[in-house]
Amino acid sequence: MKFFIDTANLEQIKEAQDLGVLDGVTTNPSLMAKEGISGDENVINHYKAICAIVDGDVSAEVISTNYEEMIKEGEALAKLDDKIVVKVPMIKDGIKAIKYFSKKGIKTNCTLVFSAGQALLAAKAGATYVSPFIGRLDDISTDGLGLIEEIRLIYDNYSFPTQILAASVRNSAHILGCAKIGADVMTGPLSAITALLKHPLTDSGLATFLADHAKAAGK
Ligand code: E4P
Repeated sequence: MKFFIDTANLEQIKEAQDLGVLDGVTTNPSLMAKEGISGDENVINHYKAICAIVDGDVSAEVISTNYEEMIKEGEALAKLDDKIVVKVPMIKDGIKAIKYFSKKGIKTNCTLVFSAGQALLAAKAGATYVSPFIGRLDDISTDGLGLIEEIRLIYDNYSFPTQILAASVRNSAHILGCAKIGADVMTGPLSAITALLKHPLTDSGLATFLADHAKAAGK
């Protein structure tokens, strides 16, 4: 399973890249705004800065919601770097745009997916990635991981090449759930990734090993 980090924060992206397990980055307009990035030129420069850090795909979301504008915006984003994946919302014009980008060989990430039907449409249109938001479904007492399971079944039934990018991941249990189901990718905060490191028996075991070593060395 590929690990993407869901942030526009350059420090966190660097930290995840340095850990050696990062496969890509996803951003969205809210994450860009959180970093205080606004204005076309700043946004473009920020995507370039992310691409310079990461070895892997970088999702950059279009702001337009009509077909013609999405095409213009997406083509400009795709020209920035080979790593750019054009992130397109799950709306009617978005599906048409994904079809267009797919024919042109431009990678896409269909975002804001909350149902198996939406994921089926995205795959039919030729999306490279589909992003079901599992955390936001859990927030409304709906089974987010259950949706990943449904999409996995449908995509496997027809050998759709679209990759399931489990998004809105909030914690390490989400990551493990996605891995068990067979999601192709997960995107979440750095804290969810580093939480995988943690086990109290690892901490106490290491403390004992180091204490025994020091005792044997007469320290
Ligand atoms: C997907 O690519 C989105 O950026 C993201 O995962 C949304 O997550 P949130 O629900 O934590 O905002």
